[in-house]
Amino acid sequence: MAGLALSPKILHGLDFGAPAAERDIGRGLEKYFVESPTYQRVEAGDKTIVLGSRGSGKSAIFQILARRERSKGSRVIELTPDDYSYELLSATMAAENAGSWAKHGAYAAAWKYLIYVLIMKEVARKGMRLTRGGAEIYRYIRDNHTTTGMGPLSLLVSYLKRLEAIKLGPIEAGMRTRELDRLYRLEEIHNLLPSLKRVLDGVRVVVLVDELDRGWDSSEDAQAFVSGLFQACVSINALHDNLRVYVSLRQELYDDIPALYEDAQKHRDLLETVRWSEDSLLNLIARRIRHSAREMGYAPDVLDRAGDIICWNAVFGLPPGLPAGRSFAYVAERTLHRPREIIEFCTAALNAARDRHPTLPLPLAAIGWAERGYSADRARDIAAEYRFQCPGLLSVFDAFRQRGPDFDRDDLELLCLELVTGEIRVNAASWWLQERSPENLIETLWQVGFLRAKSNGDERPFVGAHEVEHLNLAAVKRFQVHPMFQSYLGFSQS
Ligand SMILES: Nc1ncnc2c1ncn2[C@@H]1O[C@H](COP(=O)(O)OP(=O)(O)OP(=O)(O)O)[C@@H](O)[C@H]1O
Ligand SMILES: [Mg+2]
Repeated sequence: MAGLALSPKILHGLDFGAPAAERDIGRGLEKYFVESPTYQRVEAGDKTIVLGSRGSGKSAIFQILARRERSKGSRVIELTPDDYSYELLSATMAAENAGSWAKHGAYAAAWKYLIYVLIMKEVARKGMRLTRGGAEIYRYIRDNHTTTGMGPLSLLVSYLKRLEAIKLGPIEAGMRTRELDRLYRLEEIHNLLPSLKRVLDGVRVVVLVDELDRGWDSSEDAQAFVSGLFQACVSINALHDNLRVYVSLRQELYDDIPALYEDAQKHRDLLETVRWSEDSLLNLIARRIRHSAREMGYAPDVLDRAGDIICWNAVFGLPPGLPAGRSFAYVAERTLHRPREIIEFCTAALNAARDRHPTLPLPLAAIGWAERGYSADRARDIAAEYRFQCPGLLSVFDAFRQRGPDFDRDDLELLCLELVTGEIRVNAASWWLQERSPENLIETLWQVGFLRAKSNGDERPFVGAHEVEHLNLAAVKRFQVHPMFQSYLGFSQS
């Protein structure tokens, strides 16, 4: 395998990109995007609900999709965090137990109304009013939605308020049923849907709803907001092949919303989960290395011929005698296989080495210089990701200091028993521990990625929840604190 020698000059320009797709798109994401089968199924419109962990690449898919659709002439509507605020919803809407509210259905109707209005506003813009069906839509928008300064959320809230007023207000029963029926059927816009279909014969419209978890507070309204959106998305996507509403959601939030998994049969075939393997993550980094080198004037064909691992070793180096993929395997093993983790770890190693060793390849030790800070950041980030389901999780991680990293089941159960009974004191916010059995706690720590498991009699190494679809955890006898957390907890490195 021929090596690739990169001059130290490229060290100055080497850039692994920004850790969030919204910023990475300005740094070259289009050039180094990894087009997975997941992306292709989403782009084809077969899958419209994208699930994945934090940093797994949900926004990257939407960013690329938006650019490519726009370049084909499609109209793209992007709804992102500034557009919704769960706190505001909870403060504005009456609680479910204030009457026969049935919030989930109300939110679904309000979402349908909002999305249809946004689509009609978009197609009513320049030129479209002259197309078949366009004139009616143009008139409706002109007469009803020209007030400026009304953000998308206010439109949704105003529709919800109309429903709330009828549901909870002092209205005679028969009248209430009629009025509710009108609102649920979206009477205001229903007769425009045939016109919209005609417009859609000639133009494609894509709606992207991303970052729903920003500001997530697990409240009744937040849950109804998301489950209502799923329902609206399924219904709107049935209108026309040229209309696609895409939604992304973090896997844990999906699992945290009972209304969603109860309704799972209705949307299971639309779900796409973003997953990465060690190989695809290596490809992701190698593309970024090639991109940087190309920007610095390296001949593209030389770079294209160099395999992914050769590109990696050209930057991160490898002393003779070690297997070619050793240093990458070390880094990948310290992630939950999410692109953001790899990008952050590599960037930290690069920054640590730039000051101490300004030449390429970097010494293998650069990875070690970066590991402590990276590991601590990841432990904090994971704890923050689960702050609603498991507040104070970081202090539970901390309880493992000086106690691992390897456990057999009995020792781990004993430690977990001490945690759930309060014998080991942790952050007072961790009330949820009291409701767990030791087995439940092991399950939680496995799900969040903190523990890895080795199946009985299995010669394969420890695996994490992100690497296997199913594992009979109850039968597992050997556990290990995931290497990503080990440096933070002060375990000596293998
Ligand atoms: N297919 C891909 N090809 C290249 N880079 C990717 C790909 N997917 C993700 N990335 C990069 O990984 C990082 C994290 O991705 P992204 O911001 O899309 O995650 P996310 O799932 O939206 O996270 P969050 O839940 O925090 O919003 C970004 O730098 C992004 O550009
Ligand atoms: Mg995102």
